[in-house]
Amino acid sequence: MESVQAIKQRFGIIGNDPKLNRAIEKAIQVAPTDISVLVTGESGVGKESIPKIIHQLSHRKHGKYIAVNCGAIPEGTIDSELFGHEKGAFTGATQTRSGYFEVADGGTIFLDEVGELPLTTQVRLLRVLENGEFIKVGSSKVQKTNVRIVAATNVNMFEAIKKEKFREDLYYRLSTVEINLPALRERKEDIHLLFRKFASDFALKYKMPTVKLTDDAVNSLLKYRWNGNIRQLRNVAEQVSVLEHNRTINAVTLQHYLPNTGSNLPAVVNNSKSESDFSSEREILYKVLFDMKSDLNDLKKLTMELMKNGSAKDVQKDNEHLIQKIYGDDKDDDFDATIEDLDVLSIPEHIEADEQSPSETEDKYHFAEEIEEEETLSLQDKELELIKKSLERHNGKRKLAAAELGISERTLYRKIKQYDL
Ligand SMILES: Nc1ncnc2c1ncn2[C@@H]1O[C@H](COP(=O)(O)OP(=O)(O)OP(=O)(O)O)[C@@H](O)[C@H]1O
Ligand SMILES: [Mg+2]
Repeated sequence: MESVQAIKQRFGIIGNDPKLNRAIEKAIQVAPTDISVLVTGESGVGKESIPKIIHQLSHRKHGKYIAVNCGAIPEGTIDSELFGHEKGAFTGATQTRSGYFEVADGGTIFLDEVGELPLTTQVRLLRVLENGEFIKVGSSKVQKTNVRIVAATNVNMFEAIKKEKFREDLYYRLSTVEINLPALRERKEDIHLLFRKFASDFALKYKMPTVKLTDDAVNSLLKYRWNGNIRQLRNVAEQVSVLEHNRTINAVTLQHYLPNTGSNLPAVVNNSKSESDFSSEREILYKVLFDMKSDLNDLKKLTMELMKNGSAKDVQKDNEHLIQKIYGDDKDDDFDATIEDLDVLSIPEHIEADEQSPSETEDKYHFAEEIEEEETLSLQDKELELIKKSLERHNGKRKLAAAELGISERTLYRKIKQYDL
């Protein structure tokens, strides 16, 4: 069995805190079994390395490892993503598609932000956990799969259960073993160590001398609450490394990078994700989809022109504004984009183990298309909502709202008419 130290080195985990070591030790012990594991801990404590350790040290290491961010997938498509669907199961389902639970047969699935799963999906998940059975959306045929599940959450699951947002039976099934990662403020000994490591990484990255902290600056690091944990510490180290000319940092300088320091009031520990956090994440996601859809329509128009016209030069001349809008200043780079680059767009699937076969890649593209059609309606709602909010924020000033939304004023005007705003 590999030692805790060796695992830390292999997975780039810094720190010597006994609670961190215990968490890694638990991951090593549980890895060879098929037991479901729930990784808990505040945001930014490093939960994502635990499922990777478990998969790599298990007999499934040559199988697939799929990480799914349950909070980032729209409710309408999550069942289909996880369990697949039959041809004709819903509008736009032009092909039968395998879900992650079928694709990862023999491997591991990491369900990140599992607390965000809709209740109907929780029922399906419970069935997989209990007897390895699932049914594709729109099918009546029971299928079998052999998948190891590791889940993670930064919300208080007991509260979610109390509010009837999470099934209690599923919680106990998922958390056969719970691995808790300590908050950074409970790992005082590791704070300066982590800062030094990040500072030296960023010095290398930005080709600058490493920043050093004075004793009083180290003290303020230790006293700070670090609600964003290691992610926040890493950001602070990066900002200081890039912005400070004087490479010796004292407490006064450091304070500028630590919001709310100096207050003796206990900081509120955010155990549960607030509704507004959630809706703003969704909002960002929809904005990305909205922009992608708009680019896609422009691309369709350009392709159509090319097909009709045949002369690339003429099309370029006539559509200069569109080309500028889609490719911006990166025109030359993007024209050389490869298929691998485009593959990045098919979020949130994340397959790390083994290279994919061409047929799987093909399947992903079909799926991306299907999501687009199925989501059109709710996407329109969201688009409408985004436009409304943006107009409200800018007191009805179309120019400002259009700039914020990343569309032309004319497009915004067209949308205002379309939605009768
Ligand atoms: N012990 C560690 N050593 C080095 N880097 C770490 C350590 N723990 C976390 N990190 C880094 O901190 C960042 C946040 O970690 P991670 O994404 O795993 O957080 P998380 O617990 O999943 O948070 P969230 O609940 O917000 O998703 C990552 O960049 C990760 O590499
Ligand atoms: Mg995470």
